[in-house]
Amino acid sequence: MARRVAIIGTGWVGSSVAISTLQLGVADELLLYDARTEVAEGEAMDLAQGSSFYPGATVRTASIEEMIDADAVVIAAGRNGKPGESRLALLRDNAILARELGARLSAARGVIVVVTNPVDVLTRVVLEASGLPPARVIGTGTMLDTARLREALGRALDLDPRSVHAQVVGEHGDSEVVLWSGVQIGGVPLAQWPGWSADRESSLANEVRTAAYEIIKRKGATNHAIGLVTATLLRTVLRGERRVLTVSRWHEGASGVRDVALSMPTIVGSGGAELVLEPAMVPQERERLEHSAQVLRDAYASVRD
Ligand code: LAC
Repeated sequence: MARRVAIIGTGWVGSSVAISTLQLGVADELLLYDARTEVAEGEAMDLAQGSSFYPGATVRTASIEEMIDADAVVIAAGRNGKPGESRLALLRDNAILARELGARLSAARGVIVVVTNPVDVLTRVVLEASGLPPARVIGTGTMLDTARLREALGRALDLDPRSVHAQVVGEHGDSEVVLWSGVQIGGVPLAQWPGWSADRESSLANEVRTAAYEIIKRKGATNHAIGLVTATLLRTVLRGERRVLTVSRWHEGASGVRDVALSMPTIVGSGGAELVLEPAMVPQERERLEHSAQVLRDAYASVRD
């Protein structure tokens, strides 16, 4: 059975998701849609001409209705942030599009992966407009922030980021929460790592929180890392890997979090965001997580249909 991935929106982020998906060998068929038809056509042509350099896959443009049967549909369409603009500031513009796409994808057979910002609120908007099961509407959420944290800690500790177990939860945005109490390297808690001082936590957390602003200020958008994050999430679902990822999805009570879409460590497999885990947290982390949840509930209330 051909593994089919569809991407709606082939701008900075969507085109990076496309090339990363192809290079990771995630899909046999890649379908592209953009409201700017010629842009989608150009991307499909450009990507197809690289087909000698990635595992066999076909790339073509398609209508949104043709995407219903895809194993995964990525929503990367919408306005991206201007320098200094918060992700929540994009909400009013992007919520209208997300609601429309959710409704058009209500018969989707596979998972919907939301990337467009503010990704947590738009994950809820797409979930409600599509009527699909919560496990099958997944936001990339803080997967990217978790990757940024691991990279920054790897640099600080002179370690490969893949050996740093660290997680960011909550909003993919200014209210995100680093679970410092759970950071470990090879089972050694960060607090016991030679030379580490808790004084460094706030500057590192700020580096992660402001990373996108620093990139957008310089090049106008972020795209490569989020493209790799999204392709990795797609691979996890399409291969049924049952991997723990900090993805965003609707919450119904795990860790006391409910009535909001945000990121928590979640087992991701062929059924989508299958099981939300309840990581140990110190009281301050729980308080920050509830604050992040309330920020997102308030943001959603401002665009409720
Ligand atoms: C970023 C965008 C994807 O954090 O929100 O780079």
